[in-house]
Amino acid sequence: MSRIATIEIDGKKFELPIIKGTENELAIDIKKLRLLTGGITTIDSGFKNTGSCESAITFMDGEKGILRYRGYSIEDLAEKANFLEVAYLLIFGDLPNAEELEKFHNDIKAQAHVDEDVKKIIDGFPKAAHPMGVLSSLTSALVAFNPTSVNVDSEEEMYDAIVRILGKFPVLTAWAYRKQAGLPLEYGDNSLGYVENFVKMMFKKPAAEYEPNQVVIDALNKLLILHADHEQNCSTSTVRIVGSSNAGLFVSLSAGINALWGPLHGGANQAVIEMLEAIKEDGGDTKKYISKAKDKTDSFRLMGFGHRVYKNFDPRAKIIKVAADEVLNALGVDDPILDIAKGLEKEALEDSYFIERKLYPNVDFYSGIIYRALGISTEMFTPMFALGRLPGWIAQWHEMRVRKEPIGRPRQVYIGETYREFISANKR
Ligand code: CMC
Repeated sequence: MSRIATIEIDGKKFELPIIKGTENELAIDIKKLRLLTGGITTIDSGFKNTGSCESAITFMDGEKGILRYRGYSIEDLAEKANFLEVAYLLIFGDLPNAEELEKFHNDIKAQAHVDEDVKKIIDGFPKAAHPMGVLSSLTSALVAFNPTSVNVDSEEEMYDAIVRILGKFPVLTAWAYRKQAGLPLEYGDNSLGYVENFVKMMFKKPAAEYEPNQVVIDALNKLLILHADHEQNCSTSTVRIVGSSNAGLFVSLSAGINALWGPLHGGANQAVIEMLEAIKEDGGDTKKYISKAKDKTDSFRLMGFGHRVYKNFDPRAKIIKVAADEVLNALGVDDPILDIAKGLEKEALEDSYFIERKLYPNVDFYSGIIYRALGISTEMFTPMFALGRLPGWIAQWHEMRVRKEPIGRPRQVYIGETYREFISANKR
């Protein structure tokens, strides 16, 4: 039986349908609200209570700590899948069979290069440029070398744009890193798997034989899967909203990269390591930083803690915490900031401030410790997140296009000056 919500404004009643998702989530459908009420709108800064779309890609239950891509649990995927099949799953809806996966990978490999002129653009950046800025610029710049628009009525054209960016983005990410590290811009080896090839592109030294390290490859595969999608977060909403104007896939992604950069979102992984380093330098006094985080007159927040949706635990953080121990052990790395992180987590989880506000470690709390152990520089942590999130952004853009969603254009409540007569400059 369909359910109805009734709202009453100045004695007048209006009925609005309630829609139900496949996991029984309920939402009041306010599409007709303005029409019915003669222009009354809703307001919800930060969209804390507002669903921007219906989506069949990722399910999260913030109370129970559940995350599933297309119905598959994040725990299963992180343990058993490879990143490329997860990308296929997110974008096309089902896990690929061996033949589908091979075709997908071959199509990506055929695009796994960029125009040589891209090197000139990279050359123009100062070495100290943040790789997120370099990556978003290069992703936009790709438009100049590739078709600028995609006919969104053509599945073929969308597929072409998708495999293009999946091929080129790892090259750009690795090159953003190599630029900063002062290494020559080189390709990997297309006979390798998607993640293996990326690892080679990142770490191959100019005059030495490249030795693949399976611990590094497996750890990265897991991290990329854990970051691959997270429904309507800040960067994904950005990709969908930019794409809704009919802007192309690459520029929509570039906008998403910029949104991800912020320290409240993907930039938190860099901010966590900087915070842990600062605590170490300051003598390791975690209590002092817990107090700072609680102090409302201090702008300091415990980075890597808290989440808009997870109010119990972040399932990704659980997996990453275990992986951090495993990876550091396997690589024989003893990183003192891992102990500081664990101490900080323990104290926060016992503190009423964090308990009352349901603040738990999120995906970014331990991920930087693994990236660091893999030999990835701090400023590259957020680009690694972007590489992981790429399939999710693509899947969400593709879904939005297939569903022919209207241009994203929120309303507002105006609180500025009412009409004022213009006064010329000499009379003001
Ligand atoms: N440290 C201290 N206090 C916090 C923190 C924190 N990390 N996070 C939230 N709070 C407090 C906040 O001050 C507020 O307190 P009060 O009710 O007294 O005003 C309360 O908890 C609710 O916080 P909020 O800012 O209203 O919650 P939100 O849903 O708008 O923000 C968040 C979510 C992730 C932006 C926030 O928790 C935060 O800033 N965390 C640190 C940054 C971070 O780790 N970001 C990565 C998020 S996960 C990966 C990703 O999405 O990219």
